[in-house]
Amino acid sequence: MNNPDPKLQNAIEKAQQVTENAYVPYSNYAVGAALVSTDGTIFTGCNVENASFPATICAERAALVKAISEGVREFDLIVVATRDGGSPCGICRQMLYEFAPTMRVVTVDAQNEIHLDTTLDKLLPHGFDSLP
Ligand code: THU
Repeated sequence: MNNPDPKLQNAIEKAQQVTENAYVPYSNYAVGAALVSTDGTIFTGCNVENASFPATICAERAALVKAISEGVREFDLIVVATRDGGSPCGICRQMLYEFAPTMRVVTVDAQNEIHLDTTLDKLLPHGFDSLP
């Protein structure tokens, strides 16, 4: 891959690397996420499955909770790496929307091919952002 955007390039590499840590004995579908804060820090996450299937956490939310736990709440970009360039699930879209509704979202496959390069508000129009 020859990507002229170094910030994106770096995040793609981090997302690819962290797929190696995915714990996926049930689906065998590894996901890696690299969430980039507005100050340029990268928080990575992978999916972690569980024998109680609904307890599974997605890569995007794993990265998000790491960042929030470290006191970081503003984000520019998330890169999601999978074997086929799959896009973030609805729960992850909503979780990310809380903090960065207009952030850039990029998905890549195992060959570093970009499948999606969009913004979160396009992936989740009218996301929920208020309680009555
Ligand atoms: N998964 C993610 O990590 N992120 C998504 O946005 C979609 C799905 C994980 C959950 C599960 O471990 C595997 O992919 C198959 O659904």
